[in-house]
Amino acid sequence: MNKIKNIGVLTSGGDAPGMNAAIRAVVRAGIYYNLKVTGVIRGYDGLVNGNFMDMDRKSVANIIQRGGTILKTARSDSFRTVEGRQQAYDNLKANGIDALVVIGGDGTFTGADIFMQEFDFPIIGLPGTIDNDLAGTDFTIGYDTAINTVINAVDKIRDTAESHNRLFVVEVMGRDSGLIALRSGIGAGAEAILIPESQTGMEDLITRLEHGRKDKASKIVIVAEGDIVGGGFDICEVLKEKFPTYDIRFSVLGHIQRGGSPTCMDRVLASRLGVSAVEGLVNGHSGEMVGQLNRQVVFTPFSHAIKHIDVEEVTPAWLELVEILSL
Ligand code: F6P
Repeated sequence: MNKIKNIGVLTSGGDAPGMNAAIRAVVRAGIYYNLKVTGVIRGYDGLVNGNFMDMDRKSVANIIQRGGTILKTARSDSFRTVEGRQQAYDNLKANGIDALVVIGGDGTFTGADIFMQEFDFPIIGLPGTIDNDLAGTDFTIGYDTAINTVINAVDKIRDTAESHNRLFVVEVMGRDSGLIALRSGIGAGAEAILIPESQTGMEDLITRLEHGRKDKASKIVIVAEGDIVGGGFDICEVLKEKFPTYDIRFSVLGHIQRGGSPTCMDRVLASRLGVSAVEGLVNGHSGEMVGQLNRQVVFTPFSHAIKHIDVEEVTPAWLELVEILSL
């Protein structure tokens, strides 16, 4: 017999386009299943500080198309402490909240996993991060919007690069993951892509520039901020020394990748997974992230989801694809 009556919902870590669509889905599914839904402001900090608000049908009206998160977000230091988590638990109990939906990435799920084990508290996670670096879902909420933002920016950079015969190094987000770089690089027709998962990116790039076609007017190199050689700036320095005749420029796309109206793919993913999260809690799921694999809704334990394994794109075949296409 399920006793859940009041579900708390929060967003945590870096915001991602589509988080609002996910909040909306959780609230509306909660109402549909006759549950109370409580919004938690500023992620885990909101739990620790008891910063809650009642959510109703109207509080999530007109947000499906908005970037950011109406519940605000934070990377909480207090929730990392035993005292902070105890305070969070006491606040949840005092406000009659008996389950949580947490929307975020690996840091969010790591915190949720610890909390769930300490207090035996039901929690379901939704994959909300532009990085796409979670196992148990083909795509995370926000990734599609972010890579589309990147290709729109790189298309513009290509115009000026082509006009001046320049090589541009463009740095994209992804502290530990090259998936934004890889997919947007293919989509933008980059000559080379450097990602943290590959040990040979810089060597390959130098070889390609030494032996590749010299008649290309523009060259675009996409680098993930977490690349092992360093960020785009360091890569530029190496390239300038190796290729003094190249006219090289550097561009960091930065936080524009996290903003903007979510794409339809992100809105639909967030909506479907948000409803599934509530249904999962009602049906006794806990300690799991709900994702979509091969179009099916799938529940994956937090401990597995955060491992960033079985990610298909970081295999050598995808890197070879980049090489073939850059001829
Ligand atoms: O985790 C999402 C992410 O956008 C990473 O790609 C990036 O490295 C990081 O957040 C940036 O975080 P902040 O907004 O705290 O600088």
